Amino acid sequence: MKEKENLCDIIIFGGHGDLALRKLMPSCYHLYLDGYISKKSRIVTVSRKDLTLNEHKKLIKEKLKKYLKNDLFDEKVFKEFSKQLFFIKIDLTKTKDYEKLTELLDTDKNRDRVNYLATAPSLFGIICKSLKKCNLVTDFTRVVLEKPIGSDLKSSQIINDEVAEVFDESNIYRIDHYLGKDTVQNILALRFSNALFMPLWSARSIDHIQITVGESVGVEGRWSYYDDAGALRDMVQNHLLQLLCLIAMEPPCNLEGDSVRDEKIKVLRSLRPIEAFEINQKTVRGQYQKGVIDSKSVVGYLEEEGCNPDSSTETFTAIRIDIDNWRWSGVPFYIRTGKRMAKKYSQIVIQFKEVPHMIFPKGGGCLEPNRLIIRLQPQESIELKIMNKIPGHSEGMRLKTVGLELSTPQNKPRTPDAYEYLLLDVIRSNPTLFMRRDEIEAAWKWCDQILLNWKEQGIKPKPYAAGTYGPSSSIALIERDARSWYEE
Ligand code: BG6
Repeated sequence: MKEKENLCDIIIFGGHGDLALRKLMPSCYHLYLDGYISKKSRIVTVSRKDLTLNEHKKLIKEKLKKYLKNDLFDEKVFKEFSKQLFFIKIDLTKTKDYEKLTELLDTDKNRDRVNYLATAPSLFGIICKSLKKCNLVTDFTRVVLEKPIGSDLKSSQIINDEVAEVFDESNIYRIDHYLGKDTVQNILALRFSNALFMPLWSARSIDHIQITVGESVGVEGRWSYYDDAGALRDMVQNHLLQLLCLIAMEPPCNLEGDSVRDEKIKVLRSLRPIEAFEINQKTVRGQYQKGVIDSKSVVGYLEEEGCNPDSSTETFTAIRIDIDNWRWSGVPFYIRTGKRMAKKYSQIVIQFKEVPHMIFPKGGGCLEPNRLIIRLQPQESIELKIMNKIPGHSEGMRLKTVGLELSTPQNKPRTPDAYEYLLLDVIRSNPTLFMRRDEIEAAWKWCDQILLNWKEQGIKPKPYAAGTYGPSSSIALIERDARSWYEE
């Protein structure tokens, strides 16, 4: 066996759901194709669907053809890969049903196992307890929990407690797929392998930081899930706060799971709570109305299929965050995220302070502060914007901004998907890019206060037209501090 091959059974609960078919199965296929999963490993789909094994394989084939990027589906590879596919019909609420899984997996009891729970979080407890009852948990059994883990601190604690009755924290992998994105991992490389940035990375040189995660899609047929969540729970509590942690944390002593997570939790605990009196100045809620994206008309949130026309869930939020510690005192972090924005784009902008004294004549070009731009989507890249003289004497001393590309050019046929990285990390028992229980709870604690203030003060979302950058109050949020969102 090649050293990189891992012998491990992967059991996907909720295995016929959208996430499993769109992300997890394609990731398994690539890991298999690249030789990271042993040919003896079994990939077991658990779902309630009434399918034969052949029908299941047919469905997986169809979905792989649809979701594999760059037409990477190969008939011959699939023929081999499909030998590893298994399907078991289980009603997840009936412990007795799990015995079917024991029968299959018992044929090789001592093998590592990854249980991927791609189900509603309300089922996490019963799944874990049933696995234990049916003797399906060994010291080498890991469990992966998809977000959202709860809808507030209290519900997340209940879920975490239930899972903890069965699994040791070291075997629990709480996934946030943003941490699997190549450029997000590159933030660690950029910050902690380049001495250049070390003296600049603090309030001394940085004016403020912006994090934008914009999506052009709407609720994609998930209205009822989304309406219970909203942008703060769906995106901020996890993805945006995790990005903020990687930017703001102190250098860990090494890359081991707890070293990195010990630093992230310190950031989460330093987030200044947003009090009732400042909720309108520091936060914005928005909800999209009909509009135009990519020259196509799209309906508003309250006209989507299956909607409740009275909903006041936010599909956009912008927040000014302050971090109360020595490094970041006086440096605001402005974050925003929304559905049906003008385009899909996610970026982090680190804006440096202006030069202390200007020696260049007025009219010598527009002097802009240095910016480090970390782009996650649609293209991944890292660029440093600096001022430069326009060449030639006819221009005199005129300046313009130029961008220095700081990331490796992508010349590979494909970039692995975030789920592929993270699944491989679980298989290899590497928890660094997963969230620990205390992180989830600290993030909920901070978000809960915002949710409570919104509720108590009856703050309704402001409308914004689909295809724009959110409600105008999100522009006011940053302009109030004499700053503006960076758009290219
Ligand atoms: C998910 C959210 O966690 O992330 C979705 O539930 C959102 O609402 C998605 O669309 C965005 O992920 P990405 O990788 O496409 O930015």
